[in-house]
Amino acid sequence: MRKIKIGIVGSGGMARHHLERFSPIETAEVVAIASRNEKTGNQLAAKWSATFISDWRHLVEREDIDGIVICTHNNSHGEIAIAALQADKHVFVEYPLANDVVEGETALHLAKAQHHMLRVSHPEVVSNTHAALKQKTTELGELLFSSFVRLTPGRGARPEILFNLPISGIPVHFFVYHIYPVVDLFGEAAWVEGAACYEGLTESGQYDRFVNSVTVAFKHGGIGQWSWAGGIAINTAEQHERYVLTEGTLSDDGKGWKCSTPTEVTDLEIPKTPKSTLQELWLSEIEESAEQELSYADAEVALSSIRISLAAEQSIRENRRVIL
Ligand SMILES: NC(=O)c1ccc[n+]([C@@H]2O[C@H](COP(=O)([O-])OP(=O)(O)OC[C@H]3O[C@@H](n4cnc5c(N)ncnc54)[C@H](OP(=O)(O)O)[C@@H]3O)[C@@H](O)[C@H]2O)c1
Repeated sequence: MRKIKIGIVGSGGMARHHLERFSPIETAEVVAIASRNEKTGNQLAAKWSATFISDWRHLVEREDIDGIVICTHNNSHGEIAIAALQADKHVFVEYPLANDVVEGETALHLAKAQHHMLRVSHPEVVSNTHAALKQKTTELGELLFSSFVRLTPGRGARPEILFNLPISGIPVHFFVYHIYPVVDLFGEAAWVEGAACYEGLTESGQYDRFVNSVTVAFKHGGIGQWSWAGGIAINTAEQHERYVLTEGTLSDDGKGWKCSTPTEVTDLEIPKTPKSTLQELWLSEIEESAEQELSYADAEVALSSIRISLAAEQSIRENRRVIL
């Protein structure tokens, strides 16, 4: 059996996560790890018997590698994805797909033109809950309103990248994984309006506390809203989600999804279908790429999601509604 040879870029938390997920898969072998951080890069490469490479450009050029997994910070995802696709590699990139819409479009275009897989690390594609929501929303008529609110007390486990505008973008871009599922359910946005306030903002773009909200109109109808507040005076994190449709409302306040109609309130039934991991899915897509057409549905939704987060940034900067 020929193994799919993988190179990982980055040697932080998500690189470790992906290495643990790839290691039990018989069809995969992580052969090299590239990172600008020589200490953690060498440590990780030694632990997983892989070669350490200090410059990711040399990794993507290696001819013995089939696929590149990008686990660097947001501000380099697009550049590395494009270089890897240009070097004839399949790509699995941590979200967000890119920090720039043109970079995201270029990556998707290259993947399609070269018949290479481009997968973004959005787990909804392997989530039973998301599959149940997708089915239920088709039964409940047209979307009127979707809303998402997240309140978090602290700066998270990685404050240096989380509350950091140049590295991660504005909060909606860092938290684009909350945009992706809604776009997957209700489609692209026609326009975007954003607002953001930061406390303790330094010249280098780091801050202590923020509020960030985004409103969109979906092309197929309905309004979407997301609000995040972080570093705020609250004891534990809270999250509230609502999908209001013409025939019923789906809601989750952290205790599981409920479906409310004029006659009853029921728990959303979630099937327990065994699902592949995202890593297994990407590997099987690479294997299939030799024989069949690839689906870029995930990458298309990931691209539409960054269109919203980056348009929100533009909306804030230019103090206007951005038409997409
Ligand atoms: N899918 C998920 O559930 C999930 C969860 C958390 C985060 N993420 C995403 O995953 C990505 C990585 O997050 P993380 O938590 O793993 O961050 P992290 O722990 O800070 O690790 C990032 C690694 O990439 C290296 N790096 C950063 N920029 C680079 C560049 N331009 N060239 C070469 N190496 C570079 C860093 O080197 P240094 O040590 O020198 O900085 C570090 O080794 C982020 O985009 C984040 O949004 C995804």
